[in-house]
Amino acid sequence: MDMTAELTKRTEQIENIIKKYLPEEEGYQKQVIEAMNYSFLAGGKRLRPMLMLETYRMFGGKSEVIEPFMAAIEMIHTYSLIHDDLPAMDNDEYRRGRKTTHIVYGEAMAILAGDGLLNFAYETALTALQTEQTPNVAKALLVLSQKAGIYGMVGGQTVDVETDQTQSVTRDQLDFIYKLKTSALIEASMLIGAILAGATKSEQKIIEEAASEIGLAFQIQDDILDVTGNQEVLGKPVGSDAKNEKATYVTYEGLKKAQEDVKRYSKHAVNLLESLVVKNEFLIHLVEYLIHREK
Ligand code: IPE
Ligand code: IPE
Ligand code: MG
Ligand code: MG
Ligand code: MG
Repeated sequence: MDMTAELTKRTEQIENIIKKYLPEEEGYQKQVIEAMNYSFLAGGKRLRPMLMLETYRMFGGKSEVIEPFMAAIEMIHTYSLIHDDLPAMDNDEYRRGRKTTHIVYGEAMAILAGDGLLNFAYETALTALQTEQTPNVAKALLVLSQKAGIYGMVGGQTVDVETDQTQSVTRDQLDFIYKLKTSALIEASMLIGAILAGATKSEQKIIEEAASEIGLAFQIQDDILDVTGNQEVLGKPVGSDAKNEKATYVTYEGLKKAQEDVKRYSKHAVNLLESLVVKNEFLIHLVEYLIHREK
């Protein structure tokens, strides 16, 4: 499989789906909608909607009910990035190859654009009820809200900023941060795909575990790229963690062990996916591809 060509093609298909759900830039509140769309449309790998769609397909899902959820998870992810880049958090000026939202629109508008995207994500996901009113849709909505909130991404970001500039982070705290700030939205993506396609409880459990490991590997690789990466390719600054004196997987375990662990967690995720009766070859290739990603 030519992964580069395949990814380009599939990312474009995903873009076409998720863009349909963006709000029109009109009304007296036009400015905040422009700021929301600015960051959302800047590109990005679209990994979360991709994982969602591929998991949905793997379990035989075929309806359009998945589409508003794909847009919603990308909106929540984009909001998390806008807020993560704010001066009060990581204070970064580039994202997805562009100036960050607060640099272009100002801090107040960036905060509101994040709030707007978060709320609009639920408005969007709830439109799935127009296609299907089943307990699975309700379950998917619950997963989305749980994994984005205080028991998910927001909880992880909380401990991440609390432990900023302290050298006393324990391995336990670091695992907690990564499991929540990054794995949670990846778990939501894959779990929602599985739930909407009607996967069994035990299949959902395996998917959630695999997603957790994919997320862990993804965040460790993100930390590695913050050291070894290239801003042109990444679309965001390198050295952001060092600037903020952050404890990361790399500062904690060293580059070599970090690289080994990206492989180890990814391989474990692949094993879990291969233990299922259902198969999706592209999904396996994607997880393996992410081990060596440069952006
Ligand atoms: C960046 O996520 C934040 C992390 C959780 C590491 P991505 O690397 O998926 O960012 P985009 O969506 O491609 O811009
Ligand atoms: C952020 O982790 C994860 C989020 C929930 C946004 P980072 O702070 O390492 O993400 P980048 O490197 O800025 O994309
Ligand atoms: Mg951060
Ligand atoms: Mg950051
Ligand atoms: Mg980072």
